[in-house]
Amino acid sequence: MTPYDPDPSAPGLGPGGDRLVTAAADGEDRAVEAALRPKDLAEFIGQERVREQLSLVLQAARQRGATPDHVLLSGPPGLGKTTLSMIIAAEMNAPIRITSGPAIQHAGDLAAILSSLTEGEVLFLDEIHRMSRPAEEMLYMAMEDFRVDVIVGKGPGATAIPLELPPFTLVGATTRAGLLPPPLRDRFGFTGHMEFYAPAELERVLHRSARLLDLDIDPAGAAEIAGRSRGTPRIANRLLRRVRDYAQVKHDGRITPEIAAQALDVYEVDGRGLDRLDRAVLDVLLRLFGGGPVGLSTLAVAVGEESETVEEVAEPFLVREGLLARTPRGRIATAAAWQHLGLTPPAAPPGPRPPLPAQQDLFGLPGGPPAEG
Ligand SMILES: Nc1ncnc2c1ncn2[C@@H]1O[C@H](COP(=O)(O)OP(=O)(O)O)[C@@H](O)[C@H]1O
Ligand SMILES: [Mg+2]
Repeated sequence: MTPYDPDPSAPGLGPGGDRLVTAAADGEDRAVEAALRPKDLAEFIGQERVREQLSLVLQAARQRGATPDHVLLSGPPGLGKTTLSMIIAAEMNAPIRITSGPAIQHAGDLAAILSSLTEGEVLFLDEIHRMSRPAEEMLYMAMEDFRVDVIVGKGPGATAIPLELPPFTLVGATTRAGLLPPPLRDRFGFTGHMEFYAPAELERVLHRSARLLDLDIDPAGAAEIAGRSRGTPRIANRLLRRVRDYAQVKHDGRITPEIAAQALDVYEVDGRGLDRLDRAVLDVLLRLFGGGPVGLSTLAVAVGEESETVEEVAEPFLVREGLLARTPRGRIATAAAWQHLGLTPPAAPPGPRPPLPAQQDLFGLPGGPPAEG
């Protein structure tokens, strides 16, 4: 297995990449994740649909004695794409080669990898949407015909030497399936869409990790951590390690719900998984702008952050949680946001409102500063 060279400019390692609740992997995650990764499909928790579909693909290939079709895994970071790619190789009893789109700058880089694959090998291409254009085009032919044209020489004297490849399985992973050019997307025989995990599934992930790390955890302690993990196993495992530290230093190591809650309060991860930045955004939106609408850049200045950080780091989860909505006039808080911060909304919008206000309701709200975001 070639060492995986993480790309420092990968999404999530930029603004906000050092947060406790980021779904991107940090150095410690990389070091411990190998030990926590489920090794086969049976051990892989949740994602029932993807697991069942993938299991059929692999079982059928095994029965035919063939190499499985190329697989695309799409979904947010931290949900198990890399893990699944390794499981595919393990289930097929095949070696795996790991690389990533940003690591392949030139078509030649890809040609070198492809031409050294052995029959049945799994090639895992992480962040496949970030591969260069010429490499992408070479990949089309490799995926479809198991062939590449290696260009020898330069200028008018250059010649293309066709090179046969052994059958292999490409496993591509992407956080942005929408960014993949259709010709690339179409060459995958199977696409698995990864979903955020339900709290009960995250509890199972936590119990499993606790067992592997030899930690003593209450079922209610696991539930407390699961509820703050943003539907993401990577975050659940990271919070578990921080709670373990607290339980070990301040108590006898046992993880009860009280200790989990105290520990995560220390790290400023609240009961719903919001961290300091998320809460600051909501707090400013509610207290300073009466719930909005307010433009993105105004909101960012008030929080003391770059617009980009607010938009890419804080907002997606707030929107997903139904705490904030993006509207043509700017950002607005929902009733759930007022409730979550324990504040009372201004009297103006009367009566009970739906969790996500419909568009026409928004224009009845008192106007904030001009919206530009
Ligand atoms: N279904 C799962 N069951 C148990 N642990 C999981 C599962 N999915 C992910 N994990 C854990 O979360 C960590 C991150 O998963 P990973 O495969 O690296 O995510 P991705 O590649 O999608 O960012 C892994 O180390 C693994 O321990
Ligand atoms: Mg990964």
